[in-house]
Amino acid sequence: MLALDFLPISVATLLPASAVGLDLFQREKDSGRFVLYRGATYPLTLDDLDRLRDRGNHLLYIEKDSGPRYQSYLRRLLNADLASSNITPQLQVGALNEVVLDSLRSAFGNRDMNEAVATVSQLGALTADIIMRDEFAASDMFRVLHHDYATFTHSTNVAFYSAMLAAGLGYSSEEVEQITTGGLLHDLGKLDIDDRILSKPDKLDDWEFRQVKRHPGLGFRKLAHRTDLSEGQLLMVYQHHERMDGHGYPVGCVGSEIHPWAKICAVVDVFEALTSQRPYRKPLSRHKALEILEREGSASFDPEVLECWKSIILSA
Ligand SMILES: [Fe+2]
Repeated sequence: MLALDFLPISVATLLPASAVGLDLFQREKDSGRFVLYRGATYPLTLDDLDRLRDRGNHLLYIEKDSGPRYQSYLRRLLNADLASSNITPQLQVGALNEVVLDSLRSAFGNRDMNEAVATVSQLGALTADIIMRDEFAASDMFRVLHHDYATFTHSTNVAFYSAMLAAGLGYSSEEVEQITTGGLLHDLGKLDIDDRILSKPDKLDDWEFRQVKRHPGLGFRKLAHRTDLSEGQLLMVYQHHERMDGHGYPVGCVGSEIHPWAKICAVVDVFEALTSQRPYRKPLSRHKALEILEREGSASFDPEVLECWKSIILSA
């Protein structure tokens, strides 16, 4: 069978000792062939999961037709009561990540803005609910995230990081919910920029860079008339590339003119970009990325926001 017939699923979402109810496949390293790993009725053990992780195997595969069934399995995990089940917070965060990614792909895929905003608002609420729990640990989040170069992966990670940072800064759960939704939307304008520019492996020329710099404005224009988004959310979209000393874009405004939520988005946006695969370089470690943020320091970022993010990273 071809790669097109399979969907990758994260091992971090699999529950031991209970059959997911789907055939699970592995991809052979050398031949690239998909081979059956566990049949639908054959439960995974904790040992299986440990062995997969020890070998650095973070992905298994399911047949493409099983996608909706996997998504409903994930939603069951998300809605489960942790106290009365063997579902761990880490498993739930893993499920959250996959559900958010899948929902974003389909919500933005058909370009219906009403549906997309409704979906991201629901996802914001779900995420805030999990991140604000006492059992939530930043290290669980870092363990389950993907770091490939895909717009939706970036938006998902930025949204989770924004939520963690906003919670760390002491925002209320309602605000964290809105900030998460803003994070999911922050790069909306990129959907209107030529993919050949966005995924170009070489340095962008002046014209190409001007095109990229249009994305905050494009996203903002698409959303500005909406009454179901707050000013802070809209300014996360419009101002996440502005910098404290005015060297950012699209306007070049200074710190006092940048919305506090956009300052949150700015820090985690750069951090996410540095720690993910890019067409022109490998992902950096979290510590290396933090060093780069600190070098930019208060010329670029709000010191209190940066300090809080640093403490989240160092404690994970
Ligand atoms: Fe952006």
